[in-house]
Amino acid sequence: MNQENSKVIVSAPGKLLLFGEHAVVWGKPCIVTAVDKRIKIHIQKTNDEFIWIEAPEVKVNGYKKPLPDLHSKKSPKEVEFIEEAVKLFFKKYKVGGGLKIETQSQFSSQFGFGSSSAVTAATLLALAKLFNKEMSKQEMFDLGYDVVLKIQKVGSGFDLAAAIWGGTLYFITGGKKIEQLNLTDLPLVVGYTGIKADTATLINKVKNLHASYPRLVNTIFSEIEKLTVQGKKALYSKDWQEVGKLMNFNHGLLDTLGVSCLELSKLVYSARMGGAYGSKLSGAGGGDCMVALVTPSTKEIVKKEIERTGGTVIDVKTGAQGVRVE
Ligand code: PMV
Repeated sequence: MNQENSKVIVSAPGKLLLFGEHAVVWGKPCIVTAVDKRIKIHIQKTNDEFIWIEAPEVKVNGYKKPLPDLHSKKSPKEVEFIEEAVKLFFKKYKVGGGLKIETQSQFSSQFGFGSSSAVTAATLLALAKLFNKEMSKQEMFDLGYDVVLKIQKVGSGFDLAAAIWGGTLYFITGGKKIEQLNLTDLPLVVGYTGIKADTATLINKVKNLHASYPRLVNTIFSEIEKLTVQGKKALYSKDWQEVGKLMNFNHGLLDTLGVSCLELSKLVYSARMGGAYGSKLSGAGGGDCMVALVTPSTKEIVKKEIERTGGTVIDVKTGAQGVRVE
């Protein structure tokens, strides 16, 4: 095979948080599921001294960066995760050279489905294949988490773990625990508010609240931890009524932390009005998506209610496969 022309195609899934957002930034567990909406990346070695990137979904066309600038010049927001992943991979494995990178996404980066983590995981696996390097999932997580922290400064890494391992995971901050939960597709409806939320801003909002009300906020984190542990048991026993109630508790506690918003609340309550077992915001809050747990008989009504209240329903299957070569 002509190594210079070899091309690797890799894809990684997006994610949805079922329980434990925000508390997971503070050392508590969360439950995250990978969804069947994926980001695909094509990587090819080139004979020149540039990193070329095409990412049409974020309006990046014909972007190129000279290799010597990779370590010295700041990257535009749309390509910073790819560039940082290339940079840290080159450094760790002492390799280098020109690359042509193209991305294709099955979901908008506006949804809060974890496009940055998915693209990071996909870039790392593609590079490992391209440069013939063995990289375990844990090594990929550790390097990917460095990428995330370098750019975002904050974050638990749960979305990166979902992109790498796939399935549904019980995850503790920084990957201290990553446990695969053996669950089938979950009966969820996802509603998108149409608002793009900024995760780092919301994490800092909770941090400020914690600084002013440490006892109260710590109590909320502990309660979220308990309901996440309970949620894991209820998910295993397919006790959907119990899962739904715990989702409602979780939403209430997130609301108390100040990370819900009118648009999310509307969708969360409309889903309940439609007969969902339970519903909650999913992710950082402030916009993005909410999830509702439904029965086959309430699914369509819940979807209609969400749309009637101004949301967009996104059809997903949960427990999708982690990063893979296509
Ligand atoms: O913004 P999202 O959907 O990736 O979710 C963020 C979840 C937080 O717990 C607030 C942050 C984190 O990194 O765990």
